[in-house]
Amino acid sequence: MNIKKVHLPLADRSYTIFIGSEILPLVGELCREVLPPQNCVIVGDSNTLPLFGEKCKTSLTQAGYNVSSWELPAGETSKNLTNLARLYDFLVESRLERKSFLIALGGGVVGDLTGFAAATYMRGIPFVQIPTTLLSQVDSSVGGKTAVNLPGGKNLVGAFHQPKRVLCDMKLLSSLSQKELSCGLSEVIKYGVILDAGFFAWLEEHLPELLSLDTELMAETVRRCCELKAAVTTEDERESGRRAILNFGHTLGHAIEQLYQYNTFSHGEAVALGQLVACRLSESLLGFPREETRRVANLLKSSKLPVTIHTDNVPATIDQLIQGTQRDKKTLAGDPKFVLAEQVGKVNFGCSVPQELLRETLREFVQKIEE
Ligand SMILES: NC(=O)c1ccc[n+]([C@@H]2O[C@H](COP(=O)([O-])OP(=O)(O)OC[C@H]3O[C@@H](n4cnc5c(N)ncnc54)[C@H](O)[C@@H]3O)[C@@H](O)[C@H]2O)c1
Ligand SMILES: [Zn+2]
Repeated sequence: MNIKKVHLPLADRSYTIFIGSEILPLVGELCREVLPPQNCVIVGDSNTLPLFGEKCKTSLTQAGYNVSSWELPAGETSKNLTNLARLYDFLVESRLERKSFLIALGGGVVGDLTGFAAATYMRGIPFVQIPTTLLSQVDSSVGGKTAVNLPGGKNLVGAFHQPKRVLCDMKLLSSLSQKELSCGLSEVIKYGVILDAGFFAWLEEHLPELLSLDTELMAETVRRCCELKAAVTTEDERESGRRAILNFGHTLGHAIEQLYQYNTFSHGEAVALGQLVACRLSESLLGFPREETRRVANLLKSSKLPVTIHTDNVPATIDQLIQGTQRDKKTLAGDPKFVLAEQVGKVNFGCSVPQELLRETLREFVQKIEE
């Protein structure tokens, strides 16, 4: 398979994303094009380091780097200040200097924590992303946002820090669970809805092959998503405006994740529901065609994503969800802002939604558990 490339033109922070099969064995070579021989640390988690750590280390060592590895326990709760401090200690022990670099070998949790460590250690050192989940390949590894969580909330401490390279290897996705794959597909579908009707139709046609991890089609999917995210983030690197469209489905998605304490709905599942609710709101407020909502719902369902919430107390759940949207980070003075669609491929950000309409719309999605 040819290696596909997506370039992000960001002046002296420009970088290239490499997408293909069997990219991991090339990591040493690809790093040498932009980073001189030095000490480097591979950061992975308790799943990704045992799976891919050796291959990564061998390639880097052969390219002349002095490599050590550091393991984070797998899971979102690891993305915290305590582990960040442990990583800093390890970087000092490993004698990392200003020109040394980090490799993030894992999903978004590893990418965000490693990226933030790289952004801050010695006021900033280079890092390379090797995203190992579909979600991190199409989303978190592109755009330069890095962060850790505080007890008070997700991603509350962070920095913008662009990687030197991003290497997306389709082979690494074969060990992902079905749930993780679906979670990534939720963000993939989002790109179609917000930016590219042609890509959305292509996904409708090729979803079965993507679910069975066809490498060629998966690489094409990752390439298109990276291109779309790259276009939006290079235009608005620090999210002062249009980058907000990437939050389609996320205002309600975050409220759902929070309400269930991040352990019933994964991020992608919550965002799937958030996207559907946003489509229905868009019908009422922007004339989004009903038929398009059906297409979005079908694609999400076929991706094995949930399209309803079941609860034993419907009114209370709806109230809590509405309150959740009012606490969203992007909320101004208690008025939650939504990204809404005019049609597939065309969205507006900063839309206000009357609370009564939100309540009425949520009634369709929040259902009583059958006794
Ligand atoms: N920086 C950004 O712009 C941005 C954007 C979106 C999400 N995020 C962040 O990304 C995180 C979510 O990322 P995620 O969904 O990749 O989660 P994750 O990193 O927790 O990975 C999910 C699970 O899959 C395992 N795993 C990873 N790769 C695997 C592989 N190839 N085979 C088998 N198991 C594998 C991990 O160990 C983990 O248990 C969140 O913290 C979120 O805040 C950041
Ligand atoms: Zn998301």
